[in-house]
Formats: sequence, C-alpha cells, structure tokens
Amino acid sequence: MKRITIPLALIVVFAIWGETAEGQTKDPLVFPGISFTVETKMVKTSEGEKKVTYRAYMHIPYVANPVDKDYQSMNVSVPVEIDGKSVDAENAPIFIDIGVGGYMSVRNAGGNTGGPGDRRGGPPQSSNVSGRPDLALAAGYVIVSPGCRGRDNKAADGTYYGKAPAAIVDLKAAVRYIRHNKGVMPGNTDRIVSVGCSAGGALSALLGASGNSPLYESYLKEIGAAEAADHIYASACYSPITDLEHADGAYEWMFGTLPTQSGLVDQVLSKQLKASYAGYQQSLNLQGKNGFGILSAENYDKYLLQYYLVPSANKYLKELSDNARAAYLANNTWIKWTDHGAAFAFADYVMHIGRMKGLPAFDDFTMNQPEPALFGNTTTAARHFTSFSLQQSTGDMHAEIDSELKTIVNMMNAMYFIGQNNRDCAAAWWLRNGSSDNHTSQTVMVNLATSLENLGRKVNAWVFWDGGHCADDDPEGLIRWIGVVTGFTR
Ligand code: DHB
Repeated sequence: MKRITIPLALIVVFAIWGETAEGQTKDPLVFPGISFTVETKMVKTSEGEKKVTYRAYMHIPYVANPVDKDYQSMNVSVPVEIDGKSVDAENAPIFIDIGVGGYMSVRNAGGNTGGPGDRRGGPPQSSNVSGRPDLALAAGYVIVSPGCRGRDNKAADGTYYGKAPAAIVDLKAAVRYIRHNKGVMPGNTDRIVSVGCSAGGALSALLGASGNSPLYESYLKEIGAAEAADHIYASACYSPITDLEHADGAYEWMFGTLPTQSGLVDQVLSKQLKASYAGYQQSLNLQGKNGFGILSAENYDKYLLQYYLVPSANKYLKELSDNARAAYLANNTWIKWTDHGAAFAFADYVMHIGRMKGLPAFDDFTMNQPEPALFGNTTTAARHFTSFSLQQSTGDMHAEIDSELKTIVNMMNAMYFIGQNNRDCAAAWWLRNGSSDNHTSQTVMVNLATSLENLGRKVNAWVFWDGGHCADDDPEGLIRWIGVVTGFTR
C-alpha cells in the first residue's frame, strides 16, 4: 500500500478555500479528493484474474449533521489501472453497494467491519468469480459503499436511532452527496446504480422507485444532507423483501396450506390473509406480458410458471449433461421432461421449496421478525405495521395503524412509489430471485417487475432455478448489463 503525501501548498489552498473572505463556512460535504490510499487487488473473472489498482477513499461522512457518523459515512473506490492499463473513471457508472441485511445497520467505521446484518457484495460467491463490487471495480466502475443506520441502532440512553425510515434516508443522503460532488468525485452522476439483496434489495428498489420524493425532505434536512437530487439511473435488486405490508397475505397465497416445521399455521387466519392479498393484487391492476391479462390471485400461478419458473427450470436442465439431467429428474419426479422442456404443477413446485415462516410471516404476533422491529420508533423496540396484526394481537377488530406510521410504511415500500407513478423512478431494473427462496412470496419480485414494465421501464428479471435467498448465479451478467444500459465503454 502506497501512502500519498499531500504537498503543504495544496493543504494551504484547501484551508483558504474552506474559509472564504465573506466569512462563509466551508462546505462539509466536499469530496476529499486528495485523501486516498492506492490499493491493488486481484479480481477473479471468467476471463481470468484481473489486477486492479484503485484509489481508496475511506470513511467519508456524507451528511453535515450526522446522528452517528460511524454509520452515515461511505467508502469510495476509484479504479486507476486495470491489468497494467490506466483507466479514466471520470465518466464511469457509480455502483452503490448496499450492504444491508435483515434491515440492520451497516457500520462504516472501525476498519469497515460492517454491522451485524452486513451483506456487502451480496452473499458469499460459491462460484469462481469475485463478488459483485469487485467485478464492478474491474470493469472500471466507481464503487460507493455507504454505511447506514438500521433497526438495531441504540443510543447509550436506550433510545433507538435507526428505525424506519432511517436506512433509506441515509442512502438518499449518500446519493445526494455523490451528486453534490459532480465533477469533483469521479464517476457519472447521471449513471448511479444501486445494488443490494434481501432487505438491501428492497432498499435498492426503494432508492430506485422513490427518486426525489418530497416525503423524505424533512428527514434529509435534519441530518444535513446535501441539497441535490436523489434519483438514480438504475436499480439492481436480489430477492427484494419489499411490499412488507402486503407480504403476509402474499405469503399465505403461496404457502398457506403447507406446514411449517411446527405444523400447519392457523388456517382461518391464513385464509383471511390470502383473501386480503387477492383484493390487493386486483387493486394493482397489473398487465401480464404478451396479453396475459390482469394478474390476479387466480391466475398468478400460471403466470409465474409460464414466464419465470418453467423458463428457469428449462435453462437449468438444458445446461446439464444428459447423465446429470437424468439424475436430477429421477430425484424430482414432480418435473416432467419432454421434447418441449420441463412441465410441472405450481403446487408441486411450492411443496418442493417448502414453507419457512410462520403466520403472519412478517408482522408476526410476537413481533420477533425483523419487520416489526424495523417499524419501531425512538422509544419502542417494535410495532405492528399492519392493521390485521394489530387487530389480532389487541383483540380490537377496529384497531387501525395510525396515519403517521402508515406514512412511514409507505416510505419503506418501492411499490408505493411505483403505484404513484413517481416521475423520477429509475429507468433500468435488474431483478433476481432464487426459485427456492421462501423468505417471501414469488409474487413480490414479479409484482415489482410487472409494475415497472407497465410503466415502460427497462426491466431485466430472472429467477435462478433452485437458487435460495439472495441467489446470484450470474454476477458478471449484472456488470455487463450495467455497461449496456449506461452506455459506458472503456
Ligand atoms: C431478510 C430476510 C427476511 O426473511 C426478512 O424478513 C427481512 C430481511 C434479509 O435477509 O435481509
């Protein structure tokens, strides 16, 4: 590692610029262009290892008035040389690696060890290529790794300071910081791409969908976010755990009659939730592809099979050797394989993956799931965020989530902003899930994909066959796609 020495004259110039003659205080949100170290790493790609030399800018606070700058700070990596060839990242896409898992905080200080839910770069890659951020760096992109607050953040006095909507407010502040530093920080501020999985995938979707929404303004002001736009160009979302207030119903639609490890869930309540999902799905009024019609609780199984699950199974099975395919099919007799490819019943597929969560899957009555904790407040560890669970747990069948909380629930849901046809919703979307992911209903990602398609956005959506939560069988596909949609070439 080579340390850069900064000439004294430059420091003096900086200091003078900081305090102008008019006595204005210096802008605390200027990118510290001269404080970096030069690092080198080897990145494994399918074309062999690439040696990348880059500037590492560590722990830059991205708000002027942080609640906790250990979290509200970011690292920036700017490639300068790839395989011995110098590169210019001035106009490169800016890749925001959202490290959130489980709606927990991501710590940026202390050697960048991450917070308890830290999931930077996605899940560990079992394949022989590096993680997404390293692949992006080796493609010449600028990498931003922001910390952010999360549901676990607790002050010494016992109050919570990272409950919803803190995480998305912080991520928006990070985007504003980047844009505020247009021309100072390398990278193209018109080509910001966010990437995350699970809760991080949901936040990536939300960052993409909610661009420049005035709903967050007071929160952003409070932490001293830069006064700049906070929309992004593209959003990549792996297994997004979004649409939380409708996810309990969607889960019962998919898994209601399947037992959990401790047996069947309450079938009366399951049916109630499933019925509420049917109404919600109808209200979305989403047009399936190729004249399929409006997606509904009645036809969604067919839609998933036709456009997601069967194509996914076909790709998987066609790529196997004849012997491996025969062995797979012998172990999965519920799949029929003919000259036309795979065929199976939706119920058999659901049985194959099994039910993971209890009832309700998200706003659970004991409030042990991540989501009630996400919707706690300064003094309350966890709160119900659906009227259904509030009613069931209080016994008051007229109880309703109060309007202040309802607004916060909206502010955490990408589907809310897509439903509002938010003008500054991202133009391009990369959506991925594993077919065996039972953390939420498969309809959640496909509703996201379809609503964006219906609004004319560019959507690239796929399900990885037999992939689990946060599955990513094609990390290089994302990197190539970013190159294509942003038009970036080196
Ligand atoms: C995550 C997983 C969940 O099942 C959930 O409800 C929320 C978040 C996660 O992996 O981030």
